[in-house]
Amino acid sequence: MAGNRKTILITGAAGYIGSHIALSCLLSGQYSVVTIDNYHNSFPTALKRVTKLAQDALPASASDEDKKALEIAVHKGDISIKSDIENIFKEYESKGGIWGVIHVAALKAVGESGEIPIKYYENNITATINLLEVMDRYKVRNLVYSSSATVYGAPDNVPISESSPLRPESCYGRTKFMSELILKDVCDSNPEWRVISLRYFNPAGAHESGEIGEDPRGRPGNLVPLLAQMAVGKFPEGLKIFGDDYPTPDGTCVRDYIHVMDLADGHVDALGALPKDDIFKAQAASTGFGASGGKYKAYNLGKGKGMSVKQMVAAMEKASGFKYKVEVVGRRTGDVPELVANPELAEKELNFNAKRDLEEMCRDQWNWQSKNPQGYEGTA
Ligand SMILES: NC(=O)c1ccc[n+]([C@@H]2O[C@H](COP(=O)([O-])OP(=O)(O)OC[C@H]3O[C@@H](n4cnc5c(N)ncnc54)[C@H](O)[C@@H]3O)[C@@H](O)[C@H]2O)c1
Repeated sequence: MAGNRKTILITGAAGYIGSHIALSCLLSGQYSVVTIDNYHNSFPTALKRVTKLAQDALPASASDEDKKALEIAVHKGDISIKSDIENIFKEYESKGGIWGVIHVAALKAVGESGEIPIKYYENNITATINLLEVMDRYKVRNLVYSSSATVYGAPDNVPISESSPLRPESCYGRTKFMSELILKDVCDSNPEWRVISLRYFNPAGAHESGEIGEDPRGRPGNLVPLLAQMAVGKFPEGLKIFGDDYPTPDGTCVRDYIHVMDLADGHVDALGALPKDDIFKAQAASTGFGASGGKYKAYNLGKGKGMSVKQMVAAMEKASGFKYKVEVVGRRTGDVPELVANPELAEKELNFNAKRDLEEMCRDQWNWQSKNPQGYEGTA
């Protein structure tokens, strides 16, 4: 504990979503943050900026102690190496202990996962088991896990509820699905474990300050950061839209884009819900898994509203003032017409509220990109 704050360990905290989660946790006033990241896909600068943003949000009357509580304890380490995790738990044992973990770290590129599956299973599954083993040994059994809507594969019905069948179509998706299964089994084994998996739909945008945001290495795999980077002069070849003959209003694929700060705030909601026994009842109906008595639960985090590729291009054009060069090409294997969340369960049981709209998302994405055209590269 730091003051009244509970200590949370965030794995993969320097990455896109992790850095926004760290900020939400600090701004909530309820948590102090310890991190582990190997910077495989991120820069430690992000964490320095998070601390500064949180401290800047304090009132002028804040004491040095208040400011200190917002300093992130940064650990460089690899969670596929058990001792790297263990060292942190050992260190915090004498400092009041870690209350819970938000497990964000993972490799996440769908295409790459099919090319190097062993690396994906090692990094996303073995590392998760390492983390669970150390947590169990130190009796830290509160966990929020970064899952993904990709566990649903091609759904039978849209909007997608948590009880939809789980049939991931990529190696990456299977690492998320298998991790969820492991987490559920661990919860079934011991009632002390409390785990919430959050199935993210399509996070986009950035903190409104433009100080932190998404900085993927190489060509972004996701639409919104790709459009943002095009608007600062990268990828002059323009955007390929894969198919405009889908059964959607304008023929292009529809996805559920959620502002990354709403997603991040959803983790604070989940941490707050972990101690509540009620939410873990009727678990079977809501996870897509069979019945069991453990305290495991999965929730969709989405806006519950679909946007097409063409709508996103138009919205980013409005935000950035950049006119995109667009070419419609054939459909891409594996794409499904529409993926939209039913977020009602998270709204009801976690008090989750995706309040930011599309305009704010594109404005914030562009604010981040235009302030940081090269991302974090070269920053201290
Ligand atoms: N971005 C999305 O669209 C999306 C959608 C659904 C789910 N997710 C999940 O959300 C999580 C975060 O995604 P993101 O977009 O922020 O990705 P990211 O790559 O920006 O962040 C992941 C972080 O984990 C770190 N990391 C990876 N392997 C590690 C290891 N072995 N040890 C220590 N650190 C390690 C990386 O360096 C990076 O900082 C992932 O679990 C991902 O699967 C992301």
